[in-house]
Amino acid sequence: MMLEIWLRLILFCGIFSNALGGFIGINIGTDISNLPSATDIVAILKARQITNVRLFDADAHLLNALSNTGIEVMVSVTNEEVLGIGESPSAAAAWINKNVAAYVPSTNITSISVGSEVLNSIPNAAPILVPAMNYLHKALVSSDLNHRVKVSTPMSMGIIPRPFPPSTASFNTTWNSTIFQILQFIQNTNSFYMLNAYPYYEYVKSNGIFPMDYALFRPLSSVKQIVDPNTLFCYNSMFEALVDATYSAIKALNFTGIPIVVTETGWPWFGGVNEPDATLENAKTFNENLIQRVFNDSGPPSQPTIPVNTYIYELFNEDKRPGPVSEKNWGVLFANGTAVYPLSLSNSDRVNADSSTVFCIAKPGADENKLQNGLDWACGPGQANCKAIQQGQPCYFPDTLQSHASYAYNDYYQKMHSSGGTCDFDGTATTTTNDPSSKSCKFSGSLNSSISGLFSAPAFGPVAPFSGGSKNPAYQLSLVLWALFLLWFCFM
Ligand SMILES: *[C@@H]1O[C@H](CO)[C@@H](O)[C@H](O)[C@H]1NC(C)=O
Ligand SMILES: *[C@@H]1O[C@H](CO)[C@@H](O)[C@H](O)[C@H]1NC(C)=O
Ligand SMILES: *[C@@H]1O[C@H](CO)[C@@H](O)[C@H](O)[C@H]1NC(C)=O
Ligand SMILES: *[C@@H]1O[C@H](CO)[C@@H](O)[C@H](O)[C@H]1NC(C)=O
Ligand SMILES: *[C@@H]1O[C@H](CO)[C@@H](O)[C@H](O)[C@H]1NC(C)=O
Ligand SMILES: *[C@@H]1O[C@H](CO)[C@@H](O)[C@H](O)[C@H]1NC(C)=O
Ligand SMILES: *[C@@H]1O[C@H](CO)[C@@H](O)[C@H](O)[C@H]1NC(C)=O
Repeated sequence: MMLEIWLRLILFCGIFSNALGGFIGINIGTDISNLPSATDIVAILKARQITNVRLFDADAHLLNALSNTGIEVMVSVTNEEVLGIGESPSAAAAWINKNVAAYVPSTNITSISVGSEVLNSIPNAAPILVPAMNYLHKALVSSDLNHRVKVSTPMSMGIIPRPFPPSTASFNTTWNSTIFQILQFIQNTNSFYMLNAYPYYEYVKSNGIFPMDYALFRPLSSVKQIVDPNTLFCYNSMFEALVDATYSAIKALNFTGIPIVVTETGWPWFGGVNEPDATLENAKTFNENLIQRVFNDSGPPSQPTIPVNTYIYELFNEDKRPGPVSEKNWGVLFANGTAVYPLSLSNSDRVNADSSTVFCIAKPGADENKLQNGLDWACGPGQANCKAIQQGQPCYFPDTLQSHASYAYNDYYQKMHSSGGTCDFDGTATTTTNDPSSKSCKFSGSLNSSISGLFSAPAFGPVAPFSGGSKNPAYQLSLVLWALFLLWFCFM
């Protein structure tokens, strides 16, 4: 019984086909005191080799500056504009003429996001959302642009009350008819579902039920694998679980073949005293791992052949945004164009630079005796080069077991993993894509050259966590039950 389950787990964890073409785009919000000029913004995008951007409106300066750059552009109808357009086909036609037809093809506008999380932010407008999308689509048809430009509307996870486990997720029935019409529209027009999915908010509201590593795409130990009890799919990250929850909810309404594009995700790098998870380290880790995951080109477990195209939120910190401190600190760049933290946003950077660098380090808090054994083994039979951690050598400091073991484990792993060496060391080791090197101590596999193409946009940011979240007892209970199930499952 146990063997069978593990075999199935391994099987399921191993299915990843080679779908092609995942892209990373970036949201460009402009609620900034010293907003760079449109030309400067486009220069930054080119320097960072960004291929896809989403604007929260249809700013004429930016759309002009983006012409003849090849950069693909998603423009947005603001929530204020949705109201007028939903009531008037001629308002829709005027919007398309002014904001799309006037720029295409020299500016490569390929999609229109209609409103922002309308069902959560302006629920009263729900009845006119689908009419607005329809009128815009008809205007595109009249301009013969409907094959080039797709229309959809970004939804938050707030309309899926219980996203965990993913297989049982369904849309809030309050929105039955609206969502049904939206999906029908998407299917009829060969468009896609726009999802705003923030593991940051899900993590914060789950009150520690999920490990932080799961929210940050870090490897989970085998005992903590997150497995959907119904499908036995393994979830290596909360991000993938949220995308799959949405695929399940779509399927529950009997729609198939609708791809999901993540229009917003990200992690704030700085927050107020009551926002301890908004740190530079977490933001960097999340975005780095996200990018690596998307460029991997495989989809989430339930849809392995559909890449998870994703727009990161966001290019610039938006200092003028209202709300908690974190709200101003989602950017990967300061308004002056300097990177908040190094981050390579383009696939070509990755291929040239560090596409495959995974480091093996000692797990924080690992048992000291086991660490010592692991270190001795790595430097002995494991044939790691442990010279650099001897007294007087560059990696001697910090003189801790943790640090020395990390160096030795990694040296062993870099040499041996291609021939089957693993990063385990009796459970005391873990892999990471964060280079553990310091200025003086370079870990094997580290790029010692300075990494180019690092970086980090304005608009309506993530709407704060929707209601129906952490305070909802049913939601809490479902999390606890799921967590208990997983524990039982994994120790069986
Ligand atoms: C616009 O983007 C689409 C999708 O990537 C691409 O197929 C097309 O060639 C681009 N058009 C121009 C003019 O760059
Ligand atoms: C569904 O949405 C309605 C309207 O926003 C809300 O009142 C209700 O609590 C939601 N249901 C669940 C289960 O979250
Ligand atoms: C929504 O759809 C579900 C499943 O089809 C059904 O059980 C429920 O009664 C519907 N709710 C409303 C408000 O139409
Ligand atoms: C989906 O299709 C199945 C089988 O045809 C049917 O039993 C079910 O009621 C349908 N569900 C919805 C929400 O239409
Ligand atoms: C792609 O991602 C899957 C799931 O995280 C992983 O199993 C697989 O090894 C990755 N492939 C590459 C080439 O990184
Ligand atoms: C850019 O702005 C950041 C934050 O205000 C500041 O720390 C940095 O020094 C600035 N860089 C340049 C080159 O002006
Ligand atoms: C990186 O390190 C290697 C080995 O220590 C050295 O040969 C090489 O010159 C270094 N490259 C740079 C750009 O510092």
